[in-house]
Formats: sequence, C-alpha cells, structure tokens
Amino acid sequence: MAQFIQCTEQNKNAIRDELIAGLLAPQAFTSPKYLYDALGSKLFEAICELPEYYPTRTEAAIFNAHAEDMAQAIGPGSTLIDLGAGNCVKAGRLLPLLHPAQYVPIDISVDFLREAVARLQQRFPAVDMTAVGMDFSSSLELPDAVRRDKRLFFYPGSSIGNFTPDESLRFLQRIRQACEPNGVADGAILIGIDLIKDAATLDAAYDDALGVTACFNLNLLQHLNHLLDADFNLRDWRHRGFFNPEQGRIEMHLEARTSLCVRWHGGERRFERGERIHTENSYKYTRENFMALLKSAGFGAMRTWTDPRGWFLICHAQAI
Ligand code: AVJ
Repeated sequence: MAQFIQCTEQNKNAIRDELIAGLLAPQAFTSPKYLYDALGSKLFEAICELPEYYPTRTEAAIFNAHAEDMAQAIGPGSTLIDLGAGNCVKAGRLLPLLHPAQYVPIDISVDFLREAVARLQQRFPAVDMTAVGMDFSSSLELPDAVRRDKRLFFYPGSSIGNFTPDESLRFLQRIRQACEPNGVADGAILIGIDLIKDAATLDAAYDDALGVTACFNLNLLQHLNHLLDADFNLRDWRHRGFFNPEQGRIEMHLEARTSLCVRWHGGERRFERGERIHTENSYKYTRENFMALLKSAGFGAMRTWTDPRGWFLICHAQAI
C-alpha cells in the first residue's frame, strides 16, 4: 500500500482570511488553487480531453516521441517528486522508463490524490510510493519520508504558468534549494511550459465551445460557498477566459451578470453588473525567456524538447 502523508492540515481560518481579503480587494481575486476541490479536479481532467485544450495532448506527444532521450538525461534511481500530481497519469507513463527509487506525488486536492495513488500502486506494486497532501505553493518543506538524494522535481502541464514571472523565479529557486537537501546539488527539474502562440488558439483553449472551462471556473464559487459559508448564486456569474498579449498570459475571470451582493459569515461584497473576480492567470513563455528564468534560479545543463508546431516545451535542467 502506498503511504499517504497529510501535511500542514491547512489552517481553516488562514484560508478564510486569505479568500476574504481577495474578495474585498478593489479588483477582487482568488488564488487558482481553489479551483481544485474534488469536482474541480474532475472538471480539469475533462478540460484535458477537449479538442481546444492542446497543452495536455501536445505535452504527451512530446513525452512519447522523446521518452528514451529524457530517461537517459535523467538516469535511474531518482526520487521522483510530482508537483500537482492530480490523477497521476503523466507519472504513470514515466515510471516504466525512469525506474525511480521512490515516487512522491504531491497535491492540494487530497481525496482525489488518494484514489489516484491507490490505483497507480496497484499497477506498479514494486514502486515505493509516498503521497503527500499539501499546498506546495506556500512551502516545499517535504516530510522526512521523502528520500533526499537525486531528487527530480516533475512539474508538467505548464502549471508554473499560474505564477507571475517573479513568483515563478522564487518558486524555481525554492525547488533549486530542495534539490540540495544534503549539501550536494544532485537534484534536477523536469518541467512542461506552454509557449506563446497565436491568440485565437490560446483564446479557444480557455473558452471552449462545450463550456467545460466555464464549469471549471464557476465551480470555484461553489467551492467558496463551502469554504466561506457564502451565498454565491452560480447563475449570476459568467466565465471569461482570454489571452492578454501585453502580459503574455491567459486570464480567467468570473463576471457578474447583474448588480448583486454576496454574503458570507461575517462579511459581504457588492458587485456591479460586469464587475469581475480574477480567478486565474496562466503565463505563456518563449523558450529563451524560460531558459533565462531557469538559469537565474540556479539551474544549468538544460535539455529541451518540443513538438513540430513549437506549441509546448519540456525542459530538463540540473541544479548547479
Ligand atoms: C493546470 C494551470 C496548467 O493554465 O492551462 C486549464 C489550468 N485553467 N484551463 C492551465 C486551466 C483553465 C491549467 N494549469
């Protein structure tokens, strides 16, 4: 049986305070991590199946085409730390090639992760699996059960796009630190990055015809109702998802369809018709920009792989 460690039982009051501060800000916002309750994780899985949502498919094709090359760059016996493992499907494809000494999936969506790891352990009974339920965006302090040598931080799917470039640098620096828990920089990163492309392709990927991304975004309000005891009426809100070329990022918002007031335990906020809650950013990079970021964070010996259209990038880099 896979070991499961539940870290930092995230303080409920801290979560409430953080959420309420965002909702009361002049430009209301919430952190994208709150998109992932149990239903949100399932809706994200559905997004990955959409014809318009190219990142998952494109990244998988790059892995398929270059898996052996990547496995050679990485070498066997690593501690495979999967940041935001979700359904663990991506790691499931890598395990037979990488032969890690330990697999450590980490996710904030604890129950979803628990089920996924149980399934994966059945498929790979011989692999040492130690799952960790935690919000790795606030701390990368890993439990003692996580091996310290040859750590490979696996961060696929362009999830780093949720951070601003400044935050990304700080996060990569923290990963770089965690690559050297014994004073020996023997760790590395294997990361997937979505590349800048034409706006129409980007817009469609985040505002699909079927409306699954809209559901994913609106489900956040349901999650907030639960976390804050709030009274968001989902029918009063609409999804917005579009590429902002000045910022080089996708933005997702929820927009009030009418003037309304949302109440929660101990507070409230009025929204005018058309007013928005900013729910997610998804930054896109060029290969050069991202290589520069990795370099400033203390990584080197970069290897990169891309698809024929140059839409997505996978990068392996060593802590140096
Ligand atoms: C999980 C952050 C990589 O930004 O593409 C998908 C999340 N949001 N559709 C992304 C997401 C809307 C996704 N990441």
